[in-house]
Amino acid sequence: MLRTRIVGTGFVTGEHRVINDALSQILETSDAWIRERTGVTERYYVEEGTATSDLGVRAAEKAITDAGIDRREIDFLVFATMTPDYYFPGCGGLAQAKLGLGHVPALDIRQQCSGFIYGLQTCDALLRSGVAKTILFMGAEVHSGFMPWDREQMRLLFGQSDQLPTAAQKEWNSRFRDRAVLFGDAGAAIVLRAEEGERGLVGAKLHADGSAFEQLYVPAAGFAYRPYLSDAQFREGRYVPVMNGRGVFKMAVTRMPDVIRELCQEKGVALDDIDLLIPHQANLRISEAVQKALGLPDEKVFNNIQRYGNTTAASIPIAYHECRKAGRIKPGDLVCFVAMGAGFHWAAALMRE
Ligand code: UT7
Repeated sequence: MLRTRIVGTGFVTGEHRVINDALSQILETSDAWIRERTGVTERYYVEEGTATSDLGVRAAEKAITDAGIDRREIDFLVFATMTPDYYFPGCGGLAQAKLGLGHVPALDIRQQCSGFIYGLQTCDALLRSGVAKTILFMGAEVHSGFMPWDREQMRLLFGQSDQLPTAAQKEWNSRFRDRAVLFGDAGAAIVLRAEEGERGLVGAKLHADGSAFEQLYVPAAGFAYRPYLSDAQFREGRYVPVMNGRGVFKMAVTRMPDVIRELCQEKGVALDDIDLLIPHQANLRISEAVQKALGLPDEKVFNNIQRYGNTTAASIPIAYHECRKAGRIKPGDLVCFVAMGAGFHWAAALMRE
């Protein structure tokens, strides 16, 4: 049996660590609120000038080294992000050039928080059909560009300025506080190959429901408008994602367990057979609810949102890398990935290590 295996992993974060108390200088929020409602204690933001493709490339360098391959063996590149460097082209080609990979195909995936699992299934199809032999798959995000505060306030967060915001600035920032505290900047990469044997991707189950997209989306900058970008969109803060947090939370805690059950049933696997669940890191409370719904013990679920916040397309591969390096994954283990996010898209995958 030909199966897709992850043969190398790596990740990086943005350059600046930002703790909850730093955010409470510029927003009406508190460390206690953020920890209690989300689990997050810190996240990283990039230095201005570091873009999503740069994080992907830095992570890719590590994954290539980890895989022990020559980069000339990479014959296909896939890049998942919801925060691309430019409106177009996507990050895939930019990363290909920065890595010096030659003219290999570069594909962009934009399924937001489910981008990793959607991309994994795409890579699996490319590898097992023989279209590609060695794929470099990156997931990276620079969410800090969504933040509604200015450069000076960012400098305050980075410890480079003592200038506190005005009351009006703090009030403006606080309008977005439910989203502003959640996200962090990071990039992750994996190297994939198909090999004969039992080990590798057992399968993936993907779903989408575009009818509810307004529950979580970025209203500004799009060709639903003419022109696609305007001063008014900027003034009104419409470049910051709009999110019905409670609605998204409710959807996540039912759809994530459901899609895992569906996949397990399809593959003839019992929930008990899962050795490790790696959920997309959207909110620690969501992961806990998913764990409870599935009846999994603590040692079978991995979370790291506390240290990175929600890193969208990078979250599952970062967690997977940490589990590999910490010895949480042993040969023969069954690892389950699950995610739900904007679109809406949701998905699960099973990997035999
Ligand atoms: O990757 C997928 C993307 N997103 C998600 O998965 C998000 C899913 N949803 C969530 O994570 C949660 O809904 C949030 C963390 C976004 C919000 O938590 P919540 O427990 O659902 O809070 P809430 O929106 O019901 O708000 C409760 C209160 C409100 O105040 P009032 O109206 O009770 O006075 C909010 O204004 O908490 C307030 N609040 C905050 N307070 C301090 C909202 N954000 C903050 C904040 N700091 N950062």
